[in-house]
Amino acid sequence: MLSVAILAAGKGTRMKSKLPKVLQPLGGRTLLERVLSGCIELKPDRLFVIVGHQAELVKSKACHVSGVEFIEQNPQNGTGHAIQQLIPALADFEGELLVLNGDVPLLRQETLERLVSQHRESNSEATFLSAKLENPNGYGRVFSDEKGQVSAIIEDRDCNKKELENNLTNAGIYCFNWNTLKAILPNLSNKNNQKEVYLTDAVSMVKKAMHLQVNDVEEVCGINDRLQMAECEALLQQRLRKFWMNNGVTFTDESSSTISDNCVLGKDVIIEPQTHLRGKCHIGDNCRIGPGSFIEDSWIGANVKILYSVIRDAKIGDNVEIGPYAHLRPNTDIAQECKIGNFVEIKNSVLGLGTKVNHLSYIGDSVLGKKVNIGAGTITANYDGRRKHRTIIGDETKTGANSVLIAPITLGAQVTVGAGSTLTRNVPDGSLAIARTKQLTKKEWTS
Ligand code: UD1
Ligand code: CA
Repeated sequence: MLSVAILAAGKGTRMKSKLPKVLQPLGGRTLLERVLSGCIELKPDRLFVIVGHQAELVKSKACHVSGVEFIEQNPQNGTGHAIQQLIPALADFEGELLVLNGDVPLLRQETLERLVSQHRESNSEATFLSAKLENPNGYGRVFSDEKGQVSAIIEDRDCNKKELENNLTNAGIYCFNWNTLKAILPNLSNKNNQKEVYLTDAVSMVKKAMHLQVNDVEEVCGINDRLQMAECEALLQQRLRKFWMNNGVTFTDESSSTISDNCVLGKDVIIEPQTHLRGKCHIGDNCRIGPGSFIEDSWIGANVKILYSVIRDAKIGDNVEIGPYAHLRPNTDIAQECKIGNFVEIKNSVLGLGTKVNHLSYIGDSVLGKKVNIGAGTITANYDGRRKHRTIIGDETKTGANSVLIAPITLGAQVTVGAGSTLTRNVPDGSLAIARTKQLTKKEWTS
């Protein structure tokens, strides 16, 4: 039997933020979400999150995870005190307790699996992850013999000068025999620099504690402040780009682009410089995205070209060209072969196959058929100051430059709208609509 407890009750004072530390974002997901997703695959019998500082907010961000149980720790008197709160909930539990720090977000599931299996094989009562760090400042130091048997973990603040030279650090990820830990927990003291009850002290109170040194020190980076957060973000981005490069994606200027780990990219995608993919994105095969583009929560088909554009909550079909400088806002659905040109804004609209909106237009709350051609500067006037109205445009209709379509309005199929028209009434299929004043020319005006 395996239980998991994630420590997420602390305030994160060193972040200097109103947001609890475990809710800070990294690669578009919170630290807590990352730690949770790392251990869910282990399929623990019980999964606890220890909450305290802004508990309701933290709970609301994690309660969608099936089977998660929240335990309150008030006040927050240290990591050992946090685990003491589990005693009633695990009174009859037999097995191992895996403890994860909520601020160590880059751990791989394989490493956790290795920790649990090594713990079971070694017959120790506690096993935890350690790392030799170039800069161990802030981390607890691990003191052990050559076989990996540990005598103590001493916190950075409690170390003397000699002890601080030891760069073998505690990663904050532990596997304990619960029955042993349960008996020790009430005896932990707070006689240390911070006057807190440390979980790390439990390690020197068991008969046999072992450490397991990780191969990849990046996995155990803890986040206490914004500097460490930036370091972790950089590591995560490197990891993600490397993964996609190994799966057929080209980055022309790797370090200038960012990507969230909910993105799926096809083969032969080219990500040009300064391009950012956020949230949940799908990018089809052969797309060229960027330079200078921002795409969030969108589905992009195959062979799409997007240049210097911003796209949010949109769906784009195959072979579409977008930009430069287009802005596609939520609920935009663009069919295959469309062209969206410079300085075009589209929102809450559907565009049919092969439709073109090439220059300087606003299309909002509209449905455009197939092969529609929207002339430069066409505006759907969708807002009357109180409510939004829809514009419907049939197949193969063309609007002239500088047309204003005052919604609600329907233009049929194969309609032509004269340039400079302001239309307020529906136009039937196959008609020409012109709504502008006749030109007056006064000859010899200047003579
Ligand atoms: C802790 C370890 C340290 C280790 C480091 C690794 C202790 C005493 N020290 O130090 O040996 O090298 O992690 O990153 O455990 N928390 C609670 N309740 C509390 C206090 C903290 O739930 O009362 C949570 C925090 O929200 C955080 C985690 O425990 O997610 C770790 O707390 P933090 O204060 O960051 O510990 P460190 O000083 O980093
Ligand atoms: Ca920490």
